[in-house]
Amino acid sequence: MLGAALLVLAVGISGVAATPQGNAQGDAQGKESPATLVPLGQVVPAPASVAAGGSPYEITQRTRIRIEGGPRAREARAVGRQLAEILRPATGYPLPVLPSPPGPPGWGRKDGIRLALDPRANDLGAEGYRLTSSRKSVTLTAREPAGLFHGVQTLRQQLPPRIEKDTRQRGPWKIAGGTIKDVPRFAYRGAMLDVSRHFFTVEQVKRYIDQLALYKVNTLHLHLSDDQGWRIAIDSWPRLATHGGSTQVGGGPGGYYTKAQYKHLVAYAASRHLEVVPEIDMPGHTNAALSSYADLNCDGVAPPLYTGIEVGFSSLCVGKEITYDFVDDVIREIAALTPGRYLHIGGDEAHQTTPEDYATFMARVQPVVAKYGKTVMGWHQLAGATPADGAVAQYWGLDRTSPEERAEVAEAARNGTGLVLSPADRIYLDMKYDEDTELGLGWAGFVEVRRSYDWDPAEYLATRLPGAPASALKGVEAPLWSETIENSRHIEYMAFPRLPGVAELGWSPAATHDWDGYKVRLAAQGPRWEALGMDYYRSPQVPWP
Ligand code: ACM
Repeated sequence: MLGAALLVLAVGISGVAATPQGNAQGDAQGKESPATLVPLGQVVPAPASVAAGGSPYEITQRTRIRIEGGPRAREARAVGRQLAEILRPATGYPLPVLPSPPGPPGWGRKDGIRLALDPRANDLGAEGYRLTSSRKSVTLTAREPAGLFHGVQTLRQQLPPRIEKDTRQRGPWKIAGGTIKDVPRFAYRGAMLDVSRHFFTVEQVKRYIDQLALYKVNTLHLHLSDDQGWRIAIDSWPRLATHGGSTQVGGGPGGYYTKAQYKHLVAYAASRHLEVVPEIDMPGHTNAALSSYADLNCDGVAPPLYTGIEVGFSSLCVGKEITYDFVDDVIREIAALTPGRYLHIGGDEAHQTTPEDYATFMARVQPVVAKYGKTVMGWHQLAGATPADGAVAQYWGLDRTSPEERAEVAEAARNGTGLVLSPADRIYLDMKYDEDTELGLGWAGFVEVRRSYDWDPAEYLATRLPGAPASALKGVEAPLWSETIENSRHIEYMAFPRLPGVAELGWSPAATHDWDGYKVRLAAQGPRWEALGMDYYRSPQVPWP
């Protein structure tokens, strides 16, 4: 029912866009053309609760952004400035960001867009927000700045897509009336970017961070090392970056982040309320390190750099003491650059390592992560060793994954290991959409948009990992491996439109899950991506306007 109503609306939007008289005129006559007004809550991810009604708010030349941050005014003002920067280019309005005037609530206090931090708003948690829109004002309330930031993403999507353009556009700029109260379903909502198979510059990663933030993703997992490239400067082992980072798949020049660049990325992510999870994959996926230092190899011979796309052929030398000096130095230096909780140690596809050696290696390496104040994350093969207390395993299995492997993961979860779900045949963003997709891989099958969205994490846990307690489920993460991905256009083509669906699985209550409704909300994002200059896959499953 709802889906059908929205479909009618989407048809209405394309119809109006084609008529010459346009929106501004309809507005001057006081008519509310549906094209000028995104229905409240028609955003991605779907809000937890929406009560639409009342007059819309219109942003005008005179609109002010008012900050009520109390002792945290500086943090709230930072979000207010981000909102102003989003809105100014297309509206052409000054949109000053001002402290809320003192005194009792009144016209001056209530008018405009208000961002309020309320330390008593415990119902909004660490990331939730409330948005109230009426004729005189739009108010965003949150307990934490992250909540205000997520509320700004909702507010932004309530405006027409052309708000995203960097040149002045025709208004009106109206936000539908009513109230949204929104809190995330899961605390962990991630995306992974493989910067090893192909290197991505700081600017390219920042561009992706901005795209993730639009969908309330709060974790960026960076796969910083693999057979093809080591991408972060380590002072105590400098050849990792200078040699190990000097190429990539296909033999291009590769690259690496200096510590200053990496810190800049982490700070940029934090300013968008994303936490960076750095990954150093080990003991397998280590050819770039092994090529940089002969001593790390069991036979003392450094292999050549590798620019192909095979997996499972490399391993650190589990029996050599220098391996653990190396691991300690690397983890210490990366932990020192990491304000976030997690340090990801990989652990997947260690096909050159016996199960006994794997367990020995993980038993020595996990305490090093704890020693430097971080929590272990690993791919789910970590369950084949003994995961450290509080560790989080990232499940990347598929429907054909063996019952034994699943049982091992479920048992680890019963013993306290947390789980993040990244099922490869659902949300690996590097999988081809269909047989005609030029980019991407196909080993986990084709993953069209509906397949990536239309599943439920809790049900997945119950059916694919039976025995794993629901409380183990921390959230979801969409990995993007980069064997075939070389630039931002490639990232966007594979991530969009699947990434927003994963973001919605992580954020929205299960009760909002509905493909027919989702595909219409998703379709409305297409013009927004075009306004932002982004590429995306025009899936035939989505009714693009
Ligand atoms: C993986 O895809 N090897 C984690």
